[in-house]
Amino acid sequence: MLVLGIETSCDETGVALVEDGRRVRSNVLADQQTLHARYGGVVPEVASRAHVDLLHPAVEQACALGGVRLGDVDAIAVTLGPGLAGSLLVGVAAAKAYALALDRPLVGVNHLVAHVYANVLEHGPLPLPALVFVVSGGHTSLLVMEADGTFRMLGQTIDDAAGEAYDKVARVLGLGYPGGPVIDDLARGGDPAAVRFPRALLEDGTDDFSLSGLKTAVARHVRTAGPAADPADVAASFQEAVVDVQVSKILGAAKRESLDTVLLAGGVAANSRLRARLGEEADGLGVRVLVPSPALCTDNGAMVACAGAVALERGERTPLDARADPNLQIVPGVGRRAPRRGRKRHAR
Ligand code: KG4
Ligand code: ZN
Repeated sequence: MLVLGIETSCDETGVALVEDGRRVRSNVLADQQTLHARYGGVVPEVASRAHVDLLHPAVEQACALGGVRLGDVDAIAVTLGPGLAGSLLVGVAAAKAYALALDRPLVGVNHLVAHVYANVLEHGPLPLPALVFVVSGGHTSLLVMEADGTFRMLGQTIDDAAGEAYDKVARVLGLGYPGGPVIDDLARGGDPAAVRFPRALLEDGTDDFSLSGLKTAVARHVRTAGPAADPADVAASFQEAVVDVQVSKILGAAKRESLDTVLLAGGVAANSRLRARLGEEADGLGVRVLVPSPALCTDNGAMVACAGAVALERGERTPLDARADPNLQIVPGVGRRAPRRGRKRHAR
């Protein structure tokens, strides 16, 4: 079965062809970052217009690179949400058009679930149940994945998502957008113990996260220290505070839930410090950590095709009158409790 995966939830136009839910024939990413970089964040209107221009050429390119014709596609998978309304709409409308024109089934997938399934592309069928940590530009969620498509929410961020915090701190340090990869790189040359930033909710006994205080502490430190603030030290110290809490909460939850597998997912799962520290500490506890390669952690069409293939196998089909849902939840009725609910990254 050859699935065409379409991802347009934010600022990446991703189109991929995945065979049998596992083998990536092509994975095209039409990156919009240069369009948004000068605004310091994603501008929703600019993103949706760019998706309109980039999507069909990306589909053609995915077919050319995969050595297939569009007519060879057996099904179309698309991100239904969560994400930016206008961006989602472009992908969903296009996916419906392809499904109708080719007379193939359509399956809509949750963007966060697709992030989790990126692990299948790398590691094969998921060993379930497993603890899942989804960290992206819009979400920080700790869940138990009981079976394919069935999740139980343990905790979430009560304010900023992890990627949001990386992007904001990068802006404070004048490092540009997106901030995560830049901070990750810069931190390699810094001292993680240089500044002791707060570790919110570290020992509160919940699976919730809070990052807005840390972000404010970094901004205050940079303002107070002025030129004496070494950007590499600030980046490393900030990242260490984030990772300390993440690793502690992930492993605490794995132990409590008696789960010996952790699935990392989402753009922030590309973070080298999180991958290294979690890997090391989990190893000592006999917990296995699965994480996609960095390129498959950030938004892409292959993860959508993969999650779509699993849903199709379960018999799921999405009707052609289905709508994009910017607030689509991974566990129905358990949304992000933050006041910024439903928002992704915005330029200020
Ligand atoms: O999953 P993703 O591509 O898009 C959303 O669904 O939001 O995640 C994007 C986020 C951005 O905030 C970006 O700064 C962050 O992931 N990110 C990273 C790294 N690479 C991307 N954060 C920390 N370290 C990284 N290496
Ligand atoms: Zn994402």
